Amino acid sequence: MADGRTTVLLSVLMFAAAAAFVEELNDSFMETKGDDEIWLIKFYAPWCTFCKQLDPVWHQIGSELRSLGSPVHVGKSDATANTGLAKEFCVRTYPAILMLKKNIKYNYSGARTKDGIMDFANRIAGPLVRSLSSLQLFQHAMSRHDVMFVYVGATSPLKGNYTSVAEQLIVHTYFFSASRDVLPKAVSLSTLPAVVVFKDGTYFTYREERDGDLKSWINRERFPNFSQIDSYTLYAMGETGKLVLLALVEEKHLGEESLRYKSLVESVAAEHRESYSRDMYFGFMAGSDYISGLVMGEIIVPSFIVVNLSNDGYFLPPGTVQTEHNLLDFLDGVLNGSVQGHGGNGAFQRVRRLVYDTRVTLAARPAVVNEDGTPLLTPLLGSHKKTSKKKSD
Ligand SMILES: *[C@@H]1O[C@H](CO)[C@@H](O)[C@H](O)[C@H]1NC(C)=O
Ligand SMILES: *[C@@H]1O[C@H](CO)[C@@H](O)[C@H](O)[C@H]1NC(C)=O
Repeated sequence: MADGRTTVLLSVLMFAAAAAFVEELNDSFMETKGDDEIWLIKFYAPWCTFCKQLDPVWHQIGSELRSLGSPVHVGKSDATANTGLAKEFCVRTYPAILMLKKNIKYNYSGARTKDGIMDFANRIAGPLVRSLSSLQLFQHAMSRHDVMFVYVGATSPLKGNYTSVAEQLIVHTYFFSASRDVLPKAVSLSTLPAVVVFKDGTYFTYREERDGDLKSWINRERFPNFSQIDSYTLYAMGETGKLVLLALVEEKHLGEESLRYKSLVESVAAEHRESYSRDMYFGFMAGSDYISGLVMGEIIVPSFIVVNLSNDGYFLPPGTVQTEHNLLDFLDGVLNGSVQGHGGNGAFQRVRRLVYDTRVTLAARPAVVNEDGTPLLTPLLGSHKKTSKKKSD
């Protein structure tokens, strides 16, 4: 009997410990929390399936941050019951993932994976600008980040600007600072202080006269010139106003053609960076569901597509692309307006989007037609992920 009681007591204790990894927050949270506490909070609605899917991940995050000794508290709140708190955090869609630090709220809009969210939590929880005090630390950071912004030099007005940009863009990227002697000798900087981005195996220095204000430059430069792109990244790239040239390839096991498409994009990105990097990002995307949703029709894989996320527009090559030369012609055509764009968010397109979304929701196999009424490729099965992504922002 004593054993039985111990077991009950133990499991109660264990449950309490497990539950404490993630605290349930209500409307009194803002009054009861400590001033210096850092919080990672998930707002959910009881009926929301995406929220339920996130539950085990959320629990893991809570337990891992705890065992790592992180200062981040993990909480969740039913936004339909605690409307005051949800309003305070401007929650409009579910699940919403936010962080609170020194009364500033940071919104997470990346993929809802444990790694993605943990990285976000650690980034926000740490210093706004991380100081790299040795070459080893610099190299370690380089090995972990595809894109790395570094302020080089002593305190200056530029540093002030850099720090204030960091406050706004820390949700997207890390900010570092270092003194000149910490950087490898091969990095040559004509003047100090400087803001440098290391990426694509090289580095670029910010110049106000050429690059405009620091925030827009960092916003434009925060992606690698060529990379694997998922729907979240694509959407974030769109916010920079640049176009994205994609090679759409198979989800797994790339065929010979896919590999060729991918490497064509990669070599154009590398060799013609000067000509296109102001206007475009380059990459490849595994699977075509997301793009099929964007163009409202099935896209065959592999293919090339240029997307304009600012207006949901897209461009397809007018002919077959065999050579790098063909691909460059296509890009030039997009930029000089001679390749006709599709999509966009004009009134006609919005009606088409509405009809498309309704069909995808209602019918398993909707017929998809071109703007001129001719059937467009094969019927569709996937759901329209673009829309769900937008709703979650
Ligand atoms: C700091 O930002 C302001 C406003 O964007 C700009 O006018 C100024 O030139 C910047 N200063 C430096 C040193 O970059
Ligand atoms: C992309 O969309 C924006 C916003 O509508 C537009 O201003 C821009 O011209 C478009 N770019 C191209 C190449 O069509």
